[in-house]
Amino acid sequence: MKKRKLKDIEVSEVGMGCMAFSHGYGRIPEESYSIEAIRNAYEHGCTFFDTAEVYSPNLSGIGHNERILGKALKDVREDVVIASKLFLNGLNMTGVYNGIRRHLEGSLERLQTDHLDIYYLHRLSSTPIEKVAEAMGKLIDEGLIRGWGLSQVDVDIIDRAQKVTPLTAIQNIYSMVERDSEEKIIPYCMEHNIGFVPFSPIASGLLSGKITTDKQFERNDDVRNWVPQLSRRNIEGNQPIVELLKEYAKIKNATPAQISLAWMLHKYPNVVPIPGSKNKERIIENLDSSKVVLTDEEFEQLETSLNALKVYGHRGLGGF
Ligand SMILES: NC(=O)c1ccc[n+]([C@@H]2O[C@H](COP(=O)([O-])OP(=O)(O)OC[C@H]3O[C@@H](n4cnc5c(N)ncnc54)[C@H](OP(=O)(O)O)[C@@H]3O)[C@@H](O)[C@H]2O)c1
Repeated sequence: MKKRKLKDIEVSEVGMGCMAFSHGYGRIPEESYSIEAIRNAYEHGCTFFDTAEVYSPNLSGIGHNERILGKALKDVREDVVIASKLFLNGLNMTGVYNGIRRHLEGSLERLQTDHLDIYYLHRLSSTPIEKVAEAMGKLIDEGLIRGWGLSQVDVDIIDRAQKVTPLTAIQNIYSMVERDSEEKIIPYCMEHNIGFVPFSPIASGLLSGKITTDKQFERNDDVRNWVPQLSRRNIEGNQPIVELLKEYAKIKNATPAQISLAWMLHKYPNVVPIPGSKNKERIIENLDSSKVVLTDEEFEQLETSLNALKVYGHRGLGGF
């Protein structure tokens, strides 16, 4: 697969979001299935894997997802880039470095590695961002992490953090129906050589065109029950966007999900999406979006058509 750089870290052009093996999209697969799916992705050329310490069933407990990833990748560790995230509940001001280091040591143990490639702060907490940035800088100096990042943040926070310890990547929600980051954040990242890693790039499934208004999501631990674009009425409202993707999918001999990923890959050179799926075939389908190349003309037409369509539902940068 083609490669891209998140600052100085080389990754496959499309990464793999591993969350759904543990949380967020209903029933989780058997561990052996998840491990095999991750290995298949690696063998297909994926070298960028995304997890977080809090990804566990129902967000209760710690590290379910990191353990799976650790088992799947331990013997190819040197060939892959692993990103994990730290969730802070506010730390005593004098203990920020030690507190973050304790979280990191837990992640390293579960991931069966001695370093992380990218360590994100999952959400802002009451701990000032400058203190977090300082601690991350120290962890980089110690060789425990290669780089660091922030998730679901606005440009003011990014700028404050960047001034203390230069960032490797920002991981925000971004897709054809969640474009807040286009205004200031992605341009800031381009200007400062920071990678941008879109999460939920397929809008939790909407942009695959496979979700219909009669679709029942699972009752337990399924974020699609509250993703705004996936209410019955908004699925219907967003159909023109899905139809647009289907039209391009036909022209490009691709799938709607692939077109939605190819669109962002064409649009920005510093973007590396991490689509999530717990289905082996769809994981490969999503990785293969790297092979779907839009010409400048196709991109411009797609962009113009998209801009003319109303998006129903907005999640934005606040909260989960
Ligand atoms: N930083 C953060 O706060 C944050 C928040 C959320 C997620 N993330 C990260 O971002 C990754 C991706 O986000 P996400 O999983 O929320 O959203 P996503 O990638 O936009 O969508 C995932 C959903 O779409 C479906 N899907 C994926 N590819 C498909 C395809 N080709 N055809 C049909 N359906 C498809 C999946 O179903 P199936 O499983 O049935 O294929 C799943 O229900 C996560 O794994 C996680 O690592 C980070």
